[in-house]
Amino acid sequence: MATKPIAELFDLTGKGAIVTGAGMGIGRAIAYRLSEAGAAVMIADIDLDAAKRTAERIKERGRKAEAIKADARNIADAGKVVEATVQAFGSLDILVNNAGIYPLSLALETTEELWDMTLDINLKGLFFYCQAAAREMTRSGRGGKIINIASIDAVHPMGEVSHYNASKGGVLSLTKALALEWGPQKIHVNAVAPGSVWTPGTEKTRQAREAKGQGVEDLLAKFMGRMPLGRPGVPDDIAKVVLFFASEASDYVTGAMLVVDGGYLLT
Ligand SMILES: NC(=O)c1ccc[n+]([C@@H]2O[C@H](COP(=O)([O-])OP(=O)(O)OC[C@H]3O[C@@H](n4cnc5c(N)ncnc54)[C@H](O)[C@@H]3O)[C@@H](O)[C@H]2O)c1
Repeated sequence: MATKPIAELFDLTGKGAIVTGAGMGIGRAIAYRLSEAGAAVMIADIDLDAAKRTAERIKERGRKAEAIKADARNIADAGKVVEATVQAFGSLDILVNNAGIYPLSLALETTEELWDMTLDINLKGLFFYCQAAAREMTRSGRGGKIINIASIDAVHPMGEVSHYNASKGGVLSLTKALALEWGPQKIHVNAVAPGSVWTPGTEKTRQAREAKGQGVEDLLAKFMGRMPLGRPGVPDDIAKVVLFFASEASDYVTGAMLVVDGGYLLT
């Protein structure tokens, strides 16, 4: 017997949310969907102008959003973003850890600096944003939903990004560990693992491959040849799944990772 109508399950009215890296790409699409469902969204990005553009777009649609400059690898910023969200919207109910980088580098050429930067943003920073959010969700007694953006690379590594693969494997493991620890406080921790999604970040990767003389068209054709659903992903494909994890529709799900890859990993 259903307890609530579907529209209410997905209604995020009165919820305060943070989306990191929401100035563009997948994060921006997530912020749009959460706000469309009624959440007030803190757009946290290292690029303040991009964050402001996302927030403005949301406000033009009559929804609540604020922009804040924050570096996903800066632990002090995590606390600052949580505090600003509670101050602006009254509560923190949803955290989406989306900010991430995926610079190309062969394992034999990867420097300590590149390794640290990738792991600091994609994994260490993500942990401390989870911690700052969970402290507030525990203090408020409201619990909450944390959604970490992993990647299919967490379970199926791609070439030339071993540092990235390691960071996303860590995100998957961390998601499960935190779900285990924070379940009693009603803090749900889940992950979404995108396949290939066209964004400003993947466009940069395409240009970097082209600059190295790599046959991008061949690579793309091979990739698409393995795609049962026959098309690359768009940011909104990921945002709709994040909305599920942010909503009451996923109230009995924690510690899960949902692969959103058009079926790529099946082949
Ligand atoms: N696009 C894909 O195909 C794909 C596939 C799998 C996983 N992902 C993951 O999805 C997430 C978003 O990817 P995208 O393709 O939309 O990226 P993108 O590069 O298009 O956008 C990333 C956003 O994050 C911001 N950002 C970068 N570094 C930051 C930092 N240190 N602190 C705060 N903000 C920062 C950027 O300013 C930008 O607004 C990443 O975690 C990425 O690993 C993407």
